[in-house]
Amino acid sequence: PDLPPHVIVIFGARGDLAGRKLFPGLYRLASAGWLPAEYAVIGTGRRAPGSDDEFRSSVRRAVAEFVHDVDEDVLERLVERVSFVSSSAEDGTDLALAVREAEAALGSDVQRLLYLAVPPTAMQPVVGMLGRTGLADRARLVVEKPFGLDLASSRELDHVLKTVVSEDQVFRIDHFIGKEAVQNILALRFANRLFEVAWDRHSIASVQIDVPETLGLEGRAAFYEGTGCLRDMISTHLCQLLGFVASDRPAELDASGLTGAKVSAFASLRAFDPARTIYGQYAGYRDEHGVDPSSSVETFVALEAWIDNERWRGVPFYLRTGKSLAEGRRSVTLRYRQPDHEVFAGEPFPHELLLELTDDPVVSVKLRGKRPGPDLTVAPVTLTLDFADDFPHDEPLEAYERLLLDVMHGDQLLFSHSDEVDLLWRACQPLLDHPPPIQPYAPGSWGPQAALDLPAGGWRLGQS
Ligand code: BG6
Repeated sequence: PDLPPHVIVIFGARGDLAGRKLFPGLYRLASAGWLPAEYAVIGTGRRAPGSDDEFRSSVRRAVAEFVHDVDEDVLERLVERVSFVSSSAEDGTDLALAVREAEAALGSDVQRLLYLAVPPTAMQPVVGMLGRTGLADRARLVVEKPFGLDLASSRELDHVLKTVVSEDQVFRIDHFIGKEAVQNILALRFANRLFEVAWDRHSIASVQIDVPETLGLEGRAAFYEGTGCLRDMISTHLCQLLGFVASDRPAELDASGLTGAKVSAFASLRAFDPARTIYGQYAGYRDEHGVDPSSSVETFVALEAWIDNERWRGVPFYLRTGKSLAEGRRSVTLRYRQPDHEVFAGEPFPHELLLELTDDPVVSVKLRGKRPGPDLTVAPVTLTLDFADDFPHDEPLEAYERLLLDVMHGDQLLFSHSDEVDLLWRACQPLLDHPPPIQPYAPGSWGPQAALDLPAGGWRLGQS
């Protein structure tokens, strides 16, 4: 309610992300009453514009498909503020005119929000156009990942961005950070001494960040063929999870505090080693519609990472993700060391903290407890925290919904700074220069055989 009027421009408005996440996110914000009292949404992109009516129908369809229990009145109030204007990287004249008219109609102090849901190759030309047309002036720019395609192109993009806007206008979005369960990692670590003190190489033997997906391409062949798994998931989502798990306590829980903590962890991240990385491609990928029949794009990555700092020296981090795998999960596992001096008899078994990054976070700790009975022996017990039980009345925010709201409030806490992006590309660059050989895997499996043996002791997921 205290937000100024907004003109929200969505580039790539007919694309997959807009339909799946952005319009549904705007709808949910509208239904919660969290959008500004006055706003207009302009969709833009290259494709034949059709009329505003056709575009509005596509927004209605997208919301109906991806939101349960749609309130028709709320949806109509959103849709009537939506229009479509075509634009391209070469020509943004009509768009600039439409934005200025929409702003004039909303009064003074209108905030301009430009959401760039375009593929990495289109990003830099579009940003150039925003500069030339003056659209970038005073605007907040939401930039979708991946930010460039490698270290060099990301630096170029960053250079162009900085000639057009300042860093405090740029919101590099990584929707994993918008997830409640990911923010909960900060809460667990820094609000609970129990975890804070046992979160380093003295207590932890290894870490797994495991995000298998059952989904295949979902009609996104054009994007995926130009991107691949490393850029789509590892350099962004999984590395950001790594940042949340591995960083030191931020000086303050604000954008500069959290960025500073992540940047210093990423500065100690050893460049990924192609010899300790497995690339896979699921059988049948090359037959997918729109995929090059001889494509060598990886749909699976598993790798070993090291953070060479005081906290983590000697602790391996295993990252794994891929398409068409056996299960869809987002999970982090911290495997603890065994006690220094074992006084209980019996086989040691994993003592782990498990974070299931589902919509309602589930956290569990595998411990050892005394087995009831006459002997003083221990057996596995599990301590589980299920947020759906603890907060039955609080609705979790969907990631994009949360992040869109943060952009409107100008809060950069949950967005990535250019220094983080630069350090993460630096870590990924050896894999781009010397990609490991692609190994085939069966859809519905856990990836190539070689990846199963990467962590000593195996992966937690997929072990029966
Ligand atoms: C997107 C990737 O950023 O994240 C997709 O482009 C991936 O390939 C998706 O499937 C996973 O996100 P979520 O929130 O559905 O786990």
